[in-house]
Amino acid sequence: MPFVNWDESFETGIKQFDAHHQHLVGLLNKAYDDFICAAPDENLGFIIYELIDYTIYHFTAEEDEMQKHSYPNLVEHKQEHDSFVQRVSGLKDAFDKGNRHLSLEVLTYLKIWLKHHILESDAEIGRFLSVKATGM
Ligand code: FEO
Repeated sequence: MPFVNWDESFETGIKQFDAHHQHLVGLLNKAYDDFICAAPDENLGFIIYELIDYTIYHFTAEEDEMQKHSYPNLVEHKQEHDSFVQRVSGLKDAFDKGNRHLSLEVLTYLKIWLKHHILESDAEIGRFLSVKATGM
């Protein structure tokens, strides 16, 4: 059973971002699988780096879209992104310094943050853009 189960409740209605989120969930599930299987350090390093790179790519795309549509909660949303990037970058720094232990606590933090952020904050962007598209 995957660490994070993707279902339609995660869909924001913005196809590009739903695809990004699905990819992020996949990376998190991969990290969990590696953790459970006590995978070698190289695997954990690879997944942490990929998680950071893809997260930054996705957040930038989302922020560009919010900017483009004058999304009213852009500043607050970006703050959420920044705090997440800071936390995940801390993982990378620790890994680079030789602490190559990925804990269940960290994985659970990532899971809860991602689910909450997609279901609450990202869903709000979807609703905003949907209303804007219908001109209501
Ligand atoms: Fe999909 Fe706001 O991150």
